[in-house]
Amino acid sequence: MTAEEKDRVQQRIMFLRDELNRHNYLYYVKTAPEISDFDFDMMLNELVELEKQYPEFDDVNSPSRRVGSDSSAEFKQVQHRYPMLSLANTYSEGELRDFDNRVRNALSEPPTYVCELKFDGVAIGLTYFDGRLVQAVTRGDGSAGDDVTANARTIRTIPLKLHGSDYPREFEIRGEIIMPRAIFDELNREREDEGEQPFANPRNAAAGTLKLLNPSAVAKRRLDSFFYYMLGEELPFDNHYQNLMAAKEWGFKISEHIQLCSNLECVFDFIKYWDLARKQLPFDTDGVVVKVNSYRHQAILGMTAKTPRWAIAYKYKPEQVSTVLLSVDFQVGRTGAITPVANLKPVKLAGTVVKRASLHNADQVALLDVRIGDWVYVEKGGEIIPKIVGVDLSKRSPLAKILEFPTHCPECGSKLVKIEDEARHFCPNQFACPPQIKGRIEHFISRKAMNIDGLGEETVALLYDNGLVKDAADLYFLKKDQLLLLDRFAHKSAENAIRSIEKSKNVPFYRVVYAIGIRYVGEATARSLAQHFGSMEAIAKATYNELVEVEDIGDRIAQSIIEFFSNPANRQLVEKLKMAGLKLQVEQNENLQLSDALKGMSVVISGTFSKVSRDELKELIRQHGGKNVSSVSASTSLLIAGNNIGPSKLEKATKLGVKIVGEDEFFKLIGQE
Ligand code: IVH
Repeated sequence: MTAEEKDRVQQRIMFLRDELNRHNYLYYVKTAPEISDFDFDMMLNELVELEKQYPEFDDVNSPSRRVGSDSSAEFKQVQHRYPMLSLANTYSEGELRDFDNRVRNALSEPPTYVCELKFDGVAIGLTYFDGRLVQAVTRGDGSAGDDVTANARTIRTIPLKLHGSDYPREFEIRGEIIMPRAIFDELNREREDEGEQPFANPRNAAAGTLKLLNPSAVAKRRLDSFFYYMLGEELPFDNHYQNLMAAKEWGFKISEHIQLCSNLECVFDFIKYWDLARKQLPFDTDGVVVKVNSYRHQAILGMTAKTPRWAIAYKYKPEQVSTVLLSVDFQVGRTGAITPVANLKPVKLAGTVVKRASLHNADQVALLDVRIGDWVYVEKGGEIIPKIVGVDLSKRSPLAKILEFPTHCPECGSKLVKIEDEARHFCPNQFACPPQIKGRIEHFISRKAMNIDGLGEETVALLYDNGLVKDAADLYFLKKDQLLLLDRFAHKSAENAIRSIEKSKNVPFYRVVYAIGIRYVGEATARSLAQHFGSMEAIAKATYNELVEVEDIGDRIAQSIIEFFSNPANRQLVEKLKMAGLKLQVEQNENLQLSDALKGMSVVISGTFSKVSRDELKELIRQHGGKNVSSVSASTSLLIAGNNIGPSKLEKATKLGVKIVGEDEFFKLIGQE
């Protein structure tokens, strides 16, 4: 390639990066996209391909990296350049007046305050050098935190490269990583579908996500951010507000809801307004932060050991009421998990009447020492259902009854088991415990599984209770006449139900893998399994070692798959689904087997390739009978080495005597020169 051509490629790469950065900003920060998602994806694909072909133009800050790399690493501890302070909190107007008095007494002129929302997320500090993101660190203990740069790079509202040129050479900006409520709800629905414990609130979900070791998993969770504090020697303005406005121009997501106030009444108005209005925001806020605007004033006021004297957080009280705990039900979920649910004397809370509240698990019950007949405090935070947060011991009656956690399943009487590391008890009687069976059928018909929309939770219960279905496969053998025996169905609705059951036979294989409800196997894992093994039979036969070789499958999931298929009832379910005519293998056109050239071989791909993408390589490996695995081990048969291959992988492969081929040699091997 001539120098001139190379120049042109570089120009194109730079152009694509700038454009993608600009569109990312328009989409995520301004929420005013100028191009369609499709056009954006096309540009991104072009960039990814060019970067693959020309690794010499690689840049860790390229917008292509937003998808995250697959490599995982333990987090490095990093010392904060400026300690990461917290804020003094108050819930009372009186204390806010005290704060204002202290500020006024210390200054010789009246202060200007900046009122901001207090975002309920995870604090982060981002360091920029020459307009590029170089480091992202969590609060940690305030003096040192976790280096989560790789994860932060996947958050689309965090600019990787700043706009304009009037930013300081080096500075730090602090803010909050948040998970919008809609994303949180979706994530929890998925987790429940997969038999995982849902996150208690968006803050926990954001914190858990930011600490994931796999950046591409972080990218999928769609975190968001807001920035509210700048630090550096060369900030452009001598006050907080103007610097934040400048940061907005550089591409940071700065809240629209900031108010300059020259007196406390204005601050109270802001607080009052947002107490109600915040409920309409798509993310959680738990208060208002009031800051003295001028840096000169801030310096005069100084700090206490932990918090600045120039700022205070006014926190909204979580809405809480007290009521009587009447009784506790122990509910059994699809996976057999037991959840204690409190029945309360109905009480009004945050606009709705609350009759039930979660007690989470046995540990929580013990921690609260809650008894039947107690007056309990119920709170509605960012949580899905209200929860009991405490007991009013002053009102405890001597008759209050200690809550016994059941030793046996309230639905089927089986002895409960406690799994190590899990706070919940489980009913092990998977195949005869009614709520577990109904729960599994509900999962089977759900949208992302078989998508049988003519049925719902109540119909499933009716079909099961009347003995018409005992497992999900029985749905396929239902006759219209049988449905008509049930009150719920008339001719038309019965026909619709049968039709939608019939239609579901066409859903692709991976969704059947998801639908059968293997614990911890979510949609993405089902897809990987389907793609890797090609058929239900192959998945059922796979050994532990074969399973953990599949991308995204670790010890826990592998164990769960083996356990699932070792159970005769599950094997019978699969057999019945096969008889019913569901797709139990990858479709012919999806699974074109071209040759046996790689039969029985475990193949590792490493580096970047010029003729094909990694996904295409994976597909080729499968089409020629091989299996793609992610890491080099003694059982690896072949390593396809691309450009920039990691030296440790190469060394390991050499040491283990694994055959190493380049891209061209690989094509020869599969007879495609
Ligand atoms: S300013 C030195 N502004 O709340 C002052 N903090 O409870 C730095 N927070 O540590 C913080 N929204 O993690 C500031 N608008 C906002 C905020 C905010 C949320 C967090 C932050 C802080 C904590 C204090």
